[in-house]
Amino acid sequence: PPSLPVVALIAYFLGSIPFGLIFTALAGGGDIRRIGSGNIGATNVLRTGRKGLAAATLLFDALKGALAVLLARRFCVDATQTAMAVAAVSVVIGHCFPVWLRFKGGKGVATGLGTIWVLCWPVGLACCVIWLAVAKLSRISSAGALTAFLAAPALMPPLSEQPIQSPLPVAALLVALLIWVRHYGNIVRLISGNEPRVNMNKPQ
Ligand code: G3P
Repeated sequence: PPSLPVVALIAYFLGSIPFGLIFTALAGGGDIRRIGSGNIGATNVLRTGRKGLAAATLLFDALKGALAVLLARRFCVDATQTAMAVAAVSVVIGHCFPVWLRFKGGKGVATGLGTIWVLCWPVGLACCVIWLAVAKLSRISSAGALTAFLAAPALMPPLSEQPIQSPLPVAALLVALLIWVRHYGNIVRLISGNEPRVNMNKPQ
């Protein structure tokens, strides 16, 4: 079975594929980093008015997160949970700090959700429901993401039936921490009331 550093490297490079940037450029939408918040994630792709592209970004960013953890579960037969945890954290690091974009990547929400689904699907389901509900009610994507990733580490020990210090809950906590740190600017704007709402119907 692959060693943990190999798992981390594979997950990192999988995470570093910037689907939002690639899809927007391929669709002739230019550089997503020059639009809206400048982020490479699905929320910002939605600001271009292209819902299909945003959905594809969300899906593929989530799938790469899920795939990294699935590969670890499949190929690391001993220390499976530790390998899954390492893969989850590494794939989110890859998305947030991709070497290809001089380490300026996304905020890890879709990729993080993908990892949580495989780490423990009931927590993944709960996070998606919380994210969608808060985002829909507030029309602020970051508020939904931050709430969902406050819930993820709290829900992981009871729903995975693992003690708090075991690999899966620790992975959920580290993934959530990364996502919160990457939302620093959003948090500042949320507190000051300046965080923009997502308008689905008009390009921004
Ligand atoms: O997925 C990131 C989201 O939570 C916030 O994105 O573009 O509004 O900063 P954005």
